[in-house]
Amino acid sequence: MARVVHVDLGERGYAIRIGRDITPGETLDARAARRVLLVSDSNVEPLYGERCRRALAGRGQETVTAVVKAGEDSKSIENVKSLCEKAAAAGLDRSCAVLALGGGMVGDLAGFAAAVFLRGVKLVQAPTSLLAMVDSSVGGKTAINLSAGKNLVGAFHQPVEVTADLDVLATLPEREYVSGLAEVVKYGIIWDAVLFETLEKQAEAVLKRDASLLEDIVARCCAIKAEIVAMDEHENGVRSILNFGHTLGHAIETVAGYGRLLHGEAVALGAAYAARVSRAEKGLPEEAARRIVGLLERFGLPASLNAAGLGAASWEPVRRAMAADKKTRGGLPRFVLAESVGSVVFGCEVGEETLAKAFEGLRES
Ligand SMILES: NC(=O)c1ccc[n+]([C@@H]2O[C@H](COP(=O)([O-])OP(=O)(O)OC[C@H]3O[C@@H](n4cnc5c(N)ncnc54)[C@H](O)[C@@H]3O)[C@@H](O)[C@H]2O)c1
Repeated sequence: MARVVHVDLGERGYAIRIGRDITPGETLDARAARRVLLVSDSNVEPLYGERCRRALAGRGQETVTAVVKAGEDSKSIENVKSLCEKAAAAGLDRSCAVLALGGGMVGDLAGFAAAVFLRGVKLVQAPTSLLAMVDSSVGGKTAINLSAGKNLVGAFHQPVEVTADLDVLATLPEREYVSGLAEVVKYGIIWDAVLFETLEKQAEAVLKRDASLLEDIVARCCAIKAEIVAMDEHENGVRSILNFGHTLGHAIETVAGYGRLLHGEAVALGAAYAARVSRAEKGLPEEAARRIVGLLERFGLPASLNAAGLGAASWEPVRRAMAADKKTRGGLPRFVLAESVGSVVFGCEVGEETLAKAFEGLRES
């Protein structure tokens, strides 16, 4: 039995199915979407590719498989080209679908290929990492990286279905699982103080991947994201709160080099930074800032530069990378800042001195 969360976007709306032992592609009409391009990475495909192909074959669909190397470097324009070439060679037409089986990297890459191939074909997201289940597979953002920064080329392309089979989390490496928890904590900070409190109280069970707790948490995070996306699909306003912790997080990922820090680890560092800036700019109570840092640390996420192994990082390159962020206007980054746990404001401009001081404060824990 799967739990279902709906993303209400009118004719572009879709269901997110969350459960155990469920397979993707159920919403595809086998007569219309005869052929499916299954995109996965070199870690996930050997584990779950065959099961997925069998499920599709059982529904009368033919599968063509494309496997990219695991890792953030694969979110490249070269891989978009080779996926599109493969789709064309396999005779995929506009009725066909791309199925992304993997973490956020595969989802973003395959999603972008689905957005541009033949000016857009159907996309099914089958997220296999915690981060992809609670965040990247929902909402229609797809992207690849440039050397100038992450996600600088992309498109909004909503999936027709998201299927999160929680069973696959059993093989997710611990560091990757914990990285996904950073986005879970983010939902607590930006939207849901009760979720935040649950994470605090049940931290141990969360870390042990307790089955029913995990189902509740993934479903809650998806419901929050669905609600926000339905209000502001193209991020003209409130959707930007999902970027809490990402302004510094993306800059740190760029400066440290992709792959040094996992996405969630960079977001955790960014959340701890945003909490410091929020103290100075929005009067976030000391106690709330302490709870944010405390929960991140409880999960083993880096909440200081030292903890991230970046104790020697200097501010200037990070500030320059922030200026290159696609959400920056005229070199001035906009921040999402917290007023309390569960409530944030977006579009905040912050003075240079405060930004630099908060970065220095981030060295210690
Ligand atoms: N589109 C969006 O809205 C959005 C939101 C947040 C993050 N992102 C993007 O998501 C990416 C990060 O996603 P991620 O953390 O899932 O990284 P990832 O896709 O690189 O996956 C992490 C690692 O876990 C492995 N893996 C995944 N599922 C597994 C499983 N079930 N068993 C064993 N191994 C498994 C992968 O092979 C990889 O080595 C970044 O590129 C980030 O920019 C996108």
